[in-house]
Amino acid sequence: KQALTTTKLQRMKREGVPITMLTAYDYPSAKLAEEAGVDTLLVGDSLGNVVLGYDTTVPVTLEDMIYHARSVARGAANTFRIVDMPFMTARISREHTLQGAARLMQEGHAHSVKIEGGAEVAEHVKACVDAGIPVIGHIGLTPQSVHQMGGYKIQGKLEAEAARLLDDALALQQAGAYAVVLELVLGPLAEDISRRLDIPTIGIGAGAGCDGQVLVYHDVIQYASPYTPKKFVKTYADVGTQIREALGGFVEDVKARRFPTEEHTFGVSAAQPAAVYG
Ligand code: KIV
Ligand code: NA
Repeated sequence: KQALTTTKLQRMKREGVPITMLTAYDYPSAKLAEEAGVDTLLVGDSLGNVVLGYDTTVPVTLEDMIYHARSVARGAANTFRIVDMPFMTARISREHTLQGAARLMQEGHAHSVKIEGGAEVAEHVKACVDAGIPVIGHIGLTPQSVHQMGGYKIQGKLEAEAARLLDDALALQQAGAYAVVLELVLGPLAEDISRRLDIPTIGIGAGAGCDGQVLVYHDVIQYASPYTPKKFVKTYADVGTQIREALGGFVEDVKARRFPTEEHTFGVSAAQPAAVYG
């Protein structure tokens, strides 16, 4: 299997084939998502919430992104991988943005970077694209701006807000973004934006009118995801409960002296294992 390309993703939009994206943060999550057949992987700065235990994505650093992106690359070598530009790494100057994006590509083995923001970051998007770094935009709810936005709210309710979101999407397309993520945008507005853009939209909490869908890995499988169930998430397993029960089984067994038994012990039975593992 070969990793998708930005041109293939754009063809999927033209042909009406839904695009799938999942987040991944390490070797096992990337490996399982690739085996599941997902089109694209996002090393999201949501790793701040679901892996590092922060309240927001603001404390996530470029070093954090590189560290996690490298392990995702090892787990999903044949999947198109996008890595988030974390807080303030695509805001200060074009030079600063290029330096960060270059590190995500070279050290994080990314195929593309994602930049939060609309028209105000268009020059940063263009600088990357001009340098040969594919960029996916991200508008609507942009978690890096949570302290400015005053919470995690649905975007596009006011007419002016809706108009600005469309302008932002067009500005990103104009700047050379190959796709754009729409987060927590009203369904009809997200559908309208998707129709007006030539590039694909990938929605999260933005309804079925988008060209693709992305969810956070830990939300999909309920893997100790720190937040209570969200309306826009569909969960497909309760892995957190399974893990807790399995770990509890080990604790109970050792306390009750049910583990280890002879079959797990060397030198007590006639048949010796050929190898320590397996
Ligand atoms: O960091 C992340 O997981 C994201 C997605 C929610 C789009 O940016
Ligand atoms: Na993100």
